[in-house]
Amino acid sequence: MDAYIGIDLGTSAAKLMLVSGDGEVLASVVKEYPIYYPASGWSEQNPGDWFTAVADGIRALLQRRDKNTVKGISFGGQMHGLVILDRDGGVIRPAILWNDGRTQKETDYLNGTVGKERLYAYTANIAFAGFTAPKILWVKKNEPDNFKKAAKIMLPKDYLAYRLTGAHCTDYSDASGTLLLDVKNRRWSREMLAVCSTDEAVLPKLCESFEPVGTLLPAVADELGLSRRVAVAAGAGDNAAAAVGNGAVANGACNISIGTSGTVFIAGDTFGADPQNGLHSFCHANGKYHLLGCILSAAACSKWWTEDILKTGDHAAEQTGAERYIGKNDVFFLPYLMGERSPHNDVSARGAFIGMRPGTTRGQMTLAVLEGVAFALKDCAEAAKVSGFEIRSARVCGGGANSPLWKQIIADVLDVPLELPAVKGGPAYGAAILAMVAAGRYKNVEEAADKLVKIEKRVLPQKANEENYRERYGVFKTLYPALKDAFKLM
Ligand code: XUL
Repeated sequence: MDAYIGIDLGTSAAKLMLVSGDGEVLASVVKEYPIYYPASGWSEQNPGDWFTAVADGIRALLQRRDKNTVKGISFGGQMHGLVILDRDGGVIRPAILWNDGRTQKETDYLNGTVGKERLYAYTANIAFAGFTAPKILWVKKNEPDNFKKAAKIMLPKDYLAYRLTGAHCTDYSDASGTLLLDVKNRRWSREMLAVCSTDEAVLPKLCESFEPVGTLLPAVADELGLSRRVAVAAGAGDNAAAAVGNGAVANGACNISIGTSGTVFIAGDTFGADPQNGLHSFCHANGKYHLLGCILSAAACSKWWTEDILKTGDHAAEQTGAERYIGKNDVFFLPYLMGERSPHNDVSARGAFIGMRPGTTRGQMTLAVLEGVAFALKDCAEAAKVSGFEIRSARVCGGGANSPLWKQIIADVLDVPLELPAVKGGPAYGAAILAMVAAGRYKNVEEAADKLVKIEKRVLPQKANEENYRERYGVFKTLYPALKDAFKLM
């Protein structure tokens, strides 16, 4: 038997899966780590915590199993995070994460002074505060000593590969989110390196997601009890890995993730870009491309509302209380708890409830949260439509996809059927598939996804809700523009 380890390096935890070569999930483990918010709008993690969690996770995953069956390891990682190492491979400062909003000035400089047109020409994207390039500029300006010491720059999952193999590599899908990659031509952009005063030697070597970057360092292999011949594949950004895990690899296939962030991912065989720049134009993990809309707070909104405000862990009970208001809710929620990426690109945006009356209930507010996230995903789908991509059906993954009510709302708001794969593995399952391709178990990502991903269930949009949601989306669309200036004053 052959087995593969897929690691989803998430924002709150690492999720690890042991998957057999024919796709059966043999074991899974979750290991949490802390996230730090050292100032308003900042978010950081210690790369060392990631590695400790992953090493513990691998040990737990393989307890009482034949470790010799493991042939490959790969990753799907939270994107855009800036990890900087010194000459000796030591972490210089905590990683600055994808949802960190400290780089407004640098983002404005990139979009305004360098100019969106040039950024678009160099990279196929414009600057968003969460992207890596503005963070490099921030470190250069605010922590010049750290900037000078930086001998290696990498993305979060690349730190895992570095600790496991010693290789300084990344893959094209994750590199796309740095704003340093010429996405169309799959090479680092010399112009962007100059803008960021960064030498190419400091950046990781570019690989395809399914390419092996090396084998385990002897000391690491011995410590984990694994063979030194285990192939470590470069892996992918979490959204590309999730798309692979859900089988969204064919041209036009869509995958929606409702994790901490929410994303609308549309695979494309050829390079395409959103001229309005609301969506990102990135490489896919199968050697091709995709468009990505990312809302910064999706399941994070429901977690905040249910756990922090209502003080209950029972999401299902809250949602049962909310369901009866479908079609008659007049409360709206803007899900911009961490500012917003797609399509507004505004770190000042804030969450908001709007439309309450004296009789407004807890259930209506809970429903408004779920609906608000669905409307924000629709904003992404609408942006894709402008670029010529009509979503006809979508696969879903992420913690939020465990809620039947939320899935139904998303199907109704987007007015498309949702397809649910039998294995709900998201990025970890996709990472295991990438490891299988790297180890030679399958010819390519398409063949592996085709053989391994099976659709178990469909959620169809309900005609009865469609009109109500169309009208409500019309109102939702007017709310951010109306509040935008006020958000800037907060
Ligand atoms: C995508 C993005 C998020 C993170 C979350 O652009 O920023 O989806 O990858 O982990």
